Amino acid sequence: MKTLIIIAHPNENSFNYAISEEVQSHLKNKNHELKIKDLYKEGFDPILKEDNYLQFYQNNVPKDIHEEQKLITWAENLVFIFPTWWNGMPAMLKGYLDRVFTNGFAFQFSKGKVEGLLAGKNVVIFQTTSQTEDFMKPNQLVSSMETTIDLGFLNYCGFNVMTHKFFYSVPQVDQETREKMLGEVRGVVDIM
Ligand SMILES: Cc1cc2nc3c(=O)[nH]c(=O)nc-3n(C[C@H](O)[C@H](O)[C@H](O)COP(=O)(O)O)c2cc1C
Repeated sequence: MKTLIIIAHPNENSFNYAISEEVQSHLKNKNHELKIKDLYKEGFDPILKEDNYLQFYQNNVPKDIHEEQKLITWAENLVFIFPTWWNGMPAMLKGYLDRVFTNGFAFQFSKGKVEGLLAGKNVVIFQTTSQTEDFMKPNQLVSSMETTIDLGFLNYCGFNVMTHKFFYSVPQVDQETREKMLGEVRGVVDIM
């Protein structure tokens, strides 16, 4: 299986990086062919500027974005790893979506309906939080992100969302709980 891991975190000592390393070692053991898109490390430019905006609607993207799209086309599986920042994804990742998942590449309209062009690809999401599950769930902070990310972005583009896994209270938990969480990471990517 060809699997692309997309990570959006600025700190290599973060729990998000630990998740990424766990995913990589587990999928390598399962003989996946891996490519890593580390948005901060690569210095990805997340700002959609006017020329890019016009091209978004003209199916005529800049060369660097075309290279990003080739990577998505290559992948059979995608794994997104990111922290919750202001109840959504980091702006770095949002900018990557804005610029890469363009009209004509990720979706198109035909006869007034939208068609996801990336059907057949599976997605797993790992998202960390500092807030507790007991606070987030009753306040719809989890369901709102599941709706916007899984339905509003991934399903819209045709992706099959296998799991959107949240790890709560990450800065507060002890080492033993972190190890347990990393065990869960292995269980989640096992389905890929
Ligand atoms: C700019 C910023 C905004 C944040 N907003 C939220 C938030 O809305 N909800 C939340 O639970 N945690 C929030 N956090 C905390 C991070 O989600 C948390 O520290 C991270 O998920 C822990 O994983 P890490 O150690 O890999 O960074 C925020 C952190 C930063 C830096």
